[in-house]
Amino acid sequence: MRITQDIRYIGVNDHRDALFEGQYRVPNGMSYNSYVILDEKIAVLDTVDVNFTEEWLRNLELTLCGKKPDYLVIHHMEPDHSASLCAFMECYPDTIVVASAKAFTMMKNFFGTEYEQQRMIVTEGSELSLGKHTLAFLTAMMVHWPEVVLSYDSEDHVLFSADAFGKFGALDMEDDWVSEARRYYIGIVGKYGAQVYNLLQKVGKYDVHVICPLHGPVLDKELEYYLYLYRTWASYEPEKSGVVIAYASVYGNTKQAAELLRDKLRESGCETVIYDLARDDIHEAIAAAFCYDRLVLASSTYNGDVFPPMKTFLHGLTERNFQKRSVAMMENGSWAPMAAKVMSGMLEKSRELKLVEPVVRIHSAMNKENMAEIEMLSENMQKAVDK
Ligand code: FEO
Repeated sequence: MRITQDIRYIGVNDHRDALFEGQYRVPNGMSYNSYVILDEKIAVLDTVDVNFTEEWLRNLELTLCGKKPDYLVIHHMEPDHSASLCAFMECYPDTIVVASAKAFTMMKNFFGTEYEQQRMIVTEGSELSLGKHTLAFLTAMMVHWPEVVLSYDSEDHVLFSADAFGKFGALDMEDDWVSEARRYYIGIVGKYGAQVYNLLQKVGKYDVHVICPLHGPVLDKELEYYLYLYRTWASYEPEKSGVVIAYASVYGNTKQAAELLRDKLRESGCETVIYDLARDDIHEAIAAAFCYDRLVLASSTYNGDVFPPMKTFLHGLTERNFQKRSVAMMENGSWAPMAAKVMSGMLEKSRELKLVEPVVRIHSAMNKENMAEIEMLSENMQKAVDK
């Protein structure tokens, strides 16, 4: 696939692995992207997952048409991008490996070699001239590992953005870019909003026309929209006005209360999405909580704690720096309701959360008082719109 006159796509689609990074569901697969710049000197940009080495090397061979690469640029050492490095070097042993100093240390840890005799260490501001094309490097610490660098080709105005601007889903599948990019972003780099924001500031200095990420499609239109989404996500600002209801229910009584609240909110015209944390994709629920400005947590009490799916969900939020939202709670407990106390404790260190009352306390099944409280909570949630 041709990206520009001199830049080619040689990546692969993964439809084998149902879980990316061992935890994220990828029903539409995953792409591991790799690119080649054909110039006086030839640069290969990143490799692919170990299960696709042969396919990738074939793509490369077809693109090279008998020529040999001069450089292999490793933007990111995570194995979904670097695992085919040694196989590449066996095929093309004279290639110079280009990466950050930290990446070479990781190379030694992963592969037992850091290519001392044929390497080029790059840092912020380093340049690699290929002829017409020159790659300028930017460091991108923690987006999403500490060794990451991005590169910008000023000839074709292309940003090679590593994990940034990636998404779940193989390139031969159609899906909604925003929802799968959001789930990917929040899941993979949601914790590192400050670092992503810094990177966006640096990227802003370049006249980028095309973004080539390591996952998902090449972006060459409406780049301002993608940058806007990334700025929103990186700053933890809500992307949409609406309510997420996340519930964890043992026998269905907490679920019933959650669904009653959902119905009341929707009847009032408030956009509301609801997740069963025991059955739905937990990472989609986490991404939704970052997307909307209001969140309702509804959980049964279990062993004097919250029901475990809620604990997993809340941990997923706090480890990604959940903040700047209005939050309400509903708890259920047949003899000693504890869920609201535990949920509040888990969110104690989260910044700028506003509690919306009342906290609904159910003893086994909803009664008339609970229904009235849910009515009131619905009204208060609608008033709790930020700004
Ligand atoms: Fe796609 Fe952080 O690796």
